[in-house]
Amino acid sequence: CIDIGTLYKDTGHFTYDPGYGSTASTKSAITYIDGDKGVLLYRGYPIEQLAEKSNFLETSYLLLNGELPTKDQFSTFEHDITHHTMMHESLKDFFKGFHHDAHPMAMLAASVASLSAFYHDDIDVDNADDRKLAAIRLIAKMPTIAAACYRYSIGWPFRYPRNNLEYVDRFLHMMFEVPSEPLELSPVAAKALDLLFILHADHEQNASTSTVRLVGSTGANPYASIAAGITALWGPAHGGANEAVLEMLQEIGTADKVETAVKRAKDKNDNFRLMGFGHRVYKNFDPRAKIIREMTHKVLGELGINDPLLEVAMKLEEAALKDDYFVERKLYPNVDFYSGIIYKALGIPTEMFTVMFAIARTAGWIAHWIEQHETPGARIGRPRQIYTGADVRDYVAADKR
Ligand code: ACO
Repeated sequence: CIDIGTLYKDTGHFTYDPGYGSTASTKSAITYIDGDKGVLLYRGYPIEQLAEKSNFLETSYLLLNGELPTKDQFSTFEHDITHHTMMHESLKDFFKGFHHDAHPMAMLAASVASLSAFYHDDIDVDNADDRKLAAIRLIAKMPTIAAACYRYSIGWPFRYPRNNLEYVDRFLHMMFEVPSEPLELSPVAAKALDLLFILHADHEQNASTSTVRLVGSTGANPYASIAAGITALWGPAHGGANEAVLEMLQEIGTADKVETAVKRAKDKNDNFRLMGFGHRVYKNFDPRAKIIREMTHKVLGELGINDPLLEVAMKLEEAALKDDYFVERKLYPNVDFYSGIIYKALGIPTEMFTVMFAIARTAGWIAHWIEQHETPGARIGRPRQIYTGADVRDYVAADKR
């Protein structure tokens, strides 16, 4: 076998950490998590306070700039965002190439990556003003592109962003307005969506943010970097969990079937996991899950919806939190356990759930991308490996194999 010590003798200390459970890839001043205590801070501010008092755009400003904006700073930021909400007319043609039943995450990833083709000339990643412009563009255009993905999938014409509306209202208007019906925006829906966006805006070095940083470390442009983050988010172990949770709750169907689901989740011969449960960092309640659970009851109450899936979810949480398997492994509901029930109540289809997450997380992704480019001496990300393949051997001609 190849002597790994000899092979890697010039690399200094070498660690093997599959899944990066105990390896910090970077220093960052954006988000702090204490997984044992269930604490989450954006730029030092507790998530509970931001959820109660802030709004998504203000929180995005905070993530990007490190401080809450003054009134003037906020109105400039909002003005800048509002003036970049349109997507290029040619991007609409791009959609026509997608199959009508393409997953919206596939269309979103491709469309965001294609922004590199629309704005390729004027982004110098080493220029602070250019980085800021890219951040504004991405935060502004994500809802427009996301709504287009949805409308294309149901065969409706795209709607232009109405810039006299606020960020979340504008998105709901682009998503849902039927040309023949008068515009009726529900304040409950807008408030709930804004809250979900705040809670999903950043979460330090998760898989998608680390992907954005890894791609960004090569000097790739911001649109390509964020598109990579979108594809990483899609998986069911990460942002795709919100879609998977709803499908799981629908599959369980009624509260009396919860026990069987918990039993299956504990069976190591069964691939079934309780989606929306467990987290790499939180070994306590995910603070976002607590806020969302409370919001779920409020939204359903205010909209007069009696969703039997909420009962299934509550019973599932209760059963798992009493079960030794989940207690010993410190598996608690995470941010995605209840979010799908709110999205469903707002009329957002299941396959759009991860797209919702992506709109919000764009603020965090681009804040990390900027931080990375502001850090002097940052190096390209390049993990190492432990080689387990064949020893050195000679090539064998095809007729002798
Ligand atoms: N259901 C049943 N068992 C679970 C679950 C679950 N949801 N999550 C973890 N476990 C078990 C594992 O089987 C393992 O058991 P073992 O020690 O007997 O082998 C133990 O708990 C530790 O789990 P790991 O997979 O090693 O934990 P890891 O930190 O690698 O994974 C993850 C975390 C991916 C979130 C995992 O808990 C999971 O798959 N959860 C379901 C998917 C989900 O909700 N993802 C969203 C996460 S939040 C977000 O990204 C937005």
